[in-house]
Amino acid sequence: MKISDSVFFVSGGASGLGEAVARRVLAHGAGGVVIADLNLGAAQKLSGELGDRALAVEVDVQSTDAISAAIDAGMDKFGRLDAAVNCAGIGWAERTLDRDSKAASIDNYRRVININLIGTYDVVRLAAEQMAKE
Ligand SMILES: NC(=O)c1ccc[n+]([C@@H]2O[C@H](COP(=O)([O-])OP(=O)(O)OC[C@H]3O[C@@H](n4cnc5c(N)ncnc54)[C@H](O)[C@@H]3O)[C@@H](O)[C@H]2O)c1
Repeated sequence: MKISDSVFFVSGGASGLGEAVARRVLAHGAGGVVIADLNLGAAQKLSGELGDRALAVEVDVQSTDAISAAIDAGMDKFGRLDAAVNCAGIGWAERTLDRDSKAASIDNYRRVININLIGTYDVVRLAAEQMAKE
């Protein structure tokens, strides 16, 4: 895809894989990057370093409203959206049965699915809807 002048929405963009994507696309001439992350402090620190073509927005990808607001904020600043990259996620490991044969927490499992799977799809569908308007 063409990176030059394109505007990217990067969930989880404040750290790790997402931070690397934000840095890389800007280095290749992207027009803007929305760093959409739960950790606003880290997102702001990164956007401060990257300059005017970066925008930090606080987003919990478990919230459809928060994702929509972040896409809108990116549109307000950059006027277009060309790509969405999903890096927001959490790692989690737990035995199905612990050493006392107690079952793993289903709440932990639900949280991972909500963030890593449903949150990813929610970003994809809302970003696609915005792109289709352009
Ligand atoms: N780094 C790897 O080699 C690797 C390999 C395989 C899978 N993964 C998975 O990819 C994902 C990203 O990995 P990473 O190494 O970049 O992790 P990371 O922890 O460095 O970055 C994840 C980012 O997502 C943000 N985040 C977490 N929950 C969020 C939420 N609900 N809404 C918005 N942002 C949220 C965090 O604040 C953080 O900035 C994780 O799910 C990880 O398990 C990573």
